[in-house]
Amino acid sequence: MNKSLWHKAKEFIIDFYKETGKPGEKAKKRLQEIHKEIEQTGSYSHKTEELEYGAKLAWRNSNKCIGRLFWQTLHVFDERQAKTEEDIFSALERHLMFAENKGKIRPAITIFRPSEPGKEEVRIWNHQLLRYAGYGNAGDPHSYIFTKKCEALGWRGKGGNFDLLPWVVQIGDRPPVWKNVPPDCRLEVNISHPEYDWFKDLRLKWYTIPLISDMKLEIGGIVFKAAPFNGWYMGTEIGARNFADEDRYNLLPVIAEKMKLDMKHSFNLWKDRALIELNAAILFSFKEQGITIVDHHTAARQHRVFEQNEEAAGRKVTGDWTWLIPPLSPATTHIFHRSYKNIVQSPNFFYQETPYQS
Ligand code: ARG
Repeated sequence: MNKSLWHKAKEFIIDFYKETGKPGEKAKKRLQEIHKEIEQTGSYSHKTEELEYGAKLAWRNSNKCIGRLFWQTLHVFDERQAKTEEDIFSALERHLMFAENKGKIRPAITIFRPSEPGKEEVRIWNHQLLRYAGYGNAGDPHSYIFTKKCEALGWRGKGGNFDLLPWVVQIGDRPPVWKNVPPDCRLEVNISHPEYDWFKDLRLKWYTIPLISDMKLEIGGIVFKAAPFNGWYMGTEIGARNFADEDRYNLLPVIAEKMKLDMKHSFNLWKDRALIELNAAILFSFKEQGITIVDHHTAARQHRVFEQNEEAAGRKVTGDWTWLIPPLSPATTHIFHRSYKNIVQSPNFFYQETPYQS
């Protein structure tokens, strides 16, 4: 009998029945069933409603996420029956098409079969399902190692700044299989500025949907190593990090030059000025092209409502302050001025080792 699995299952099932208002006797019966299943097989399988609620709780418990107000709206695709690489690729495509929703982005998660004793594991090699290659002299440096892996598998990129990486899926010990992102999933926004006409000439773009595919999901002791999920972007993720970090696209000097700012001294705040205009451009462009995006002031207010909801429900709000504060003007949000206990609760999402050698 796997004792620790049983304990985790019990904790989750009790929470599930309590929070969803189902009668206690049913929980008892379900627990007996699970106990037997663990005894016989070494594991147990969630009912669809348990899986759905578990995934939502994992989002609610994600201490780094400022967008958690919407945890109950998460759409769960139960793809535990997917067997072949082709099954998995088509599930990923369905997920992206659902999430895109003509620009009105919907949060969703696709859950593939969990790791179980004696069964082949499903792994997605990508960090996100939409992500740009990094070649060393072009593209996104964050993708450098994974890009090399894709090349070793036979994929060839164009060597540009915004080449979408292929999807790479591996089942058990079989060799990984890659596939180019299907044309209908290549959803991107061209970046322009509401006042600076030259901005569009920088030919910047970004993909519309942040879809994390390398974290593991844990629900009631069951571990899903392949459970890609998406929300929508907060502007600063692109404007204050992806495009601004020196070890990412490092665009502040490029923009400051166009703005004719003196870059010899930091005293005139050229970096900050470039940063503001870059972030204004991101928000403007997504909005103009009808793609959901949230600014950090709105997101912080939404997180405050989340905090109030949690307290009203009798739960302690947990959070990781270092992640929750936005990278732009943090002290203009309430988050900066309070503290959070960074207690890790289950269900949750966790980092895991990459399936490839790095
Ligand atoms: N920060 C990551 C990126 O810029 C995305 C992380 C998830 N973000 C989200 N809004 N759900 O690509």
